[in-house]
Amino acid sequence: MSDAASTRSGRLTVVVGITGGIAAYKAVGVARALVRAGHDVHVVATDGALRFVGRPTLEAISRNPVHTDLYEGVAEVRHVALGQRADLIVIAPATAHTIASLAAGLAGDLLGTTVLASAAPLVIAPAMHTEMWEHPATVANIATLRARGVTIVGPGSGALTGEDVGPGRMSEPDEIVERALAVIGPHDLVGRRILVSAGGTREPLDPVRFIGNRSSGRQGVALAAAAAARGASVTLVAAHLEVPAPAGVEVVTVGTAAELEAAMAQHAAEADTVIMAAAVADFRPIAVAESKIKKTDDGAGLRLELERTPDILAGLAARRRPGQRIVGFAAETEPDDDALLRVAAAKARRKGVDLLVVNRVGWSEGFGTPTNAVMLLDGDGSLVGRAEGDKASVAHRILDLLA
Ligand code: CTP
Repeated sequence: MSDAASTRSGRLTVVVGITGGIAAYKAVGVARALVRAGHDVHVVATDGALRFVGRPTLEAISRNPVHTDLYEGVAEVRHVALGQRADLIVIAPATAHTIASLAAGLAGDLLGTTVLASAAPLVIAPAMHTEMWEHPATVANIATLRARGVTIVGPGSGALTGEDVGPGRMSEPDEIVERALAVIGPHDLVGRRILVSAGGTREPLDPVRFIGNRSSGRQGVALAAAAAARGASVTLVAAHLEVPAPAGVEVVTVGTAAELEAAMAQHAAEADTVIMAAAVADFRPIAVAESKIKKTDDGAGLRLELERTPDILAGLAARRRPGQRIVGFAAETEPDDDALLRVAAAKARRKGVDLLVVNRVGWSEGFGTPTNAVMLLDGDGSLVGRAEGDKASVAHRILDLLA
């Protein structure tokens, strides 16, 4: 969030990027709808945009100065400051040229630097002639942006400049604003401190080998990202993530169960909610060899002696502060729902959690996938919800129950 006031009120700092197409006149409606919704709107217009719509109009509607020039406001480092402060960036209209620049990560103008300097969600509303929209270059650029998490609104089909009719018409301002605010989601976790563990621990056998597990960290990372997007201040304790940690969260990197336990204990002291999404080793080698374990000439096998690791989740639950909520995960291999629920209900009670997120795992299920299907149990082991879909929407559903 941009400043303390906006953090309290849920008022967003929104950068509205306007680029040079005839639909720029409709961008006035985008800025106005955002201002009416109570947000702080800063327009970044390209030179091309200002040929279609006047600066005074945009300043009057947005109630802020309009920025265009990369070389203005250098002392206040404006080329990155706007992006760093933004909670949301909406580019409407986004021309074919702008879409290509965004896909390539170009920083040749103020809009380019603003986008690159920002961790905020980016929403674009393309507008161009049908041939340009359907050109393989644009199609590939849109695919690149989508893969990067950019939300594309429209374009619709209808009258274009001149006599042309077809796909390429910019969506209507109200639709763009509605979709953009939906990306941000509710700002219902403002002021909350959420601690999330994610990934899988590794217990070393020797300097080159470890006992690990198949957790990619995707669901935990999605939870951290969703909580941050909803305004929480988030600490992510990360064990061997296969995906990048989200922007805007504090990351504490750990390797072993013992390191994870120490990090959780330290950060749980300030957390309102603790979410243990990490897959923690249940056993670790009693002794770690100082140098690489060698094969012997007699062809003998290797016997490893393992000891139990502490149950971090149960420990956190047992020592929870008044009002602190503890969320656990359970990955089970039971094939049918009834058996899964029985095992999970017992686990929820045994661990003393407030919420247990249960999913089925197997050789081909659960790990490293972009989607998830979970059941949500309360501390008594009663089923209180289900969620299915990409890991981001599952994360939001879990947070809905906590919010
Ligand atoms: N967990 C933990 N410390 C451990 C093992 C697990 O905190 N040493 C946490 C996980 O982060 C997860 C939850 O406990 O939130 C469930 O882990 P799971 O391995 O399914 O539970 P276990 O108690 O180990 O039960 P099981 O006997 O089924 O392995």
